[in-house]
Formats: sequence, structure tokens, C-alpha cells
Amino acid sequence: MDGNSGPVVGHTKLEILKQHRPAFLDPSKLPWTPWVMEGTNFKLLNIDKKTGGFTILLKVDPGLDTPVHGHLGGVEGIVLKGEFGYDDDRGGEGCYFYEDAATRHKPDSPSGTIMFATVYGPIVGYDDEGGVAGIVDARLMYDLAAANGAADHLAHLADFPS
Ligand SMILES: [Fe+2]
Repeated sequence: MDGNSGPVVGHTKLEILKQHRPAFLDPSKLPWTPWVMEGTNFKLLNIDKKTGGFTILLKVDPGLDTPVHGHLGGVEGIVLKGEFGYDDDRGGEGCYFYEDAATRHKPDSPSGTIMFATVYGPIVGYDDEGGVAGIVDARLMYDLAAANGAADHLAHLADFPS
């Protein structure tokens, strides 16, 4: 022992480790991209290629009648404007919401809403007969945003299998 040895943690000089991309993004600089239901638009903030999930700002026009959808992963977010909900379970501006994985529901928003949401797995859209009408995952979200010129900040994640 030379007096300088000891627990590594106690003698490690902490260095600042910068991440490989900017931490901040101003979503006001991104255009809204039309989403899978007419009357809905999104701004893609991030994608998770491990889960197929994604993080978005979602804007829903007033009075939209959404089809039933289900979640393969949970969802959590914050209502930024307006309000939405499912029957009597509703939240307005500033409310946090959480939707369980395996939830199947039909939200409505008479006044329209803008929300921030992180979706931890793909969303399943159903048709009127209960069949799967479509899957919304990170790949689709990236492709839609990129086609609208709104995914340059995520280009480093764009190496999906073809
Ligand atoms: Fe949902």
C-alpha cells in the first residue's frame, strides 16, 4: 500500500463524459407529420429500436373519433393542451397519464389535445371486425417523419434492416 490505493470509487477522478448527440431538441423547429389516423399529427422526438417504441408530441384535432387501438407496451405522458380520455377517466392540461401494456381502448378528445408521450412498444390498430388493421412501431414512425423531412435528428438511428 502506497497510500494512494484503496477503493476505486474513492480515488477515481470524475471526468465529464459528453454524449454523442445533443441532449436538447427544439420541437418547434420540426414540422407536424400526419399520423395514421386523419386528424392526428405528430413530431417524432426519439425512437427505441430495442422495443419498437417511440417518443412523440401528438396533436389530435377536436372531435376526432378514433378507432380502437391496443398497446404492446405501456405508454406514459403529459397533456400539454386540451384534454382527452376514455369515458369518465379523463385528463386536461398538465395531467400525467399512464396506459398499461395490453390496454385496449378508444380515447376521445372533443376539444382536441396536444400531448407528450413515450410509447414503450408498438401500437396495434384494429378494424371494425376486431382484426389487426395495422401496427405502429418505431420503424413506421421514423419512416413517416423522415418522408416529411422531420427526422434528421434521428438519422444516426436509421439503420433498420431492409
Ligand atoms: Fe392508447
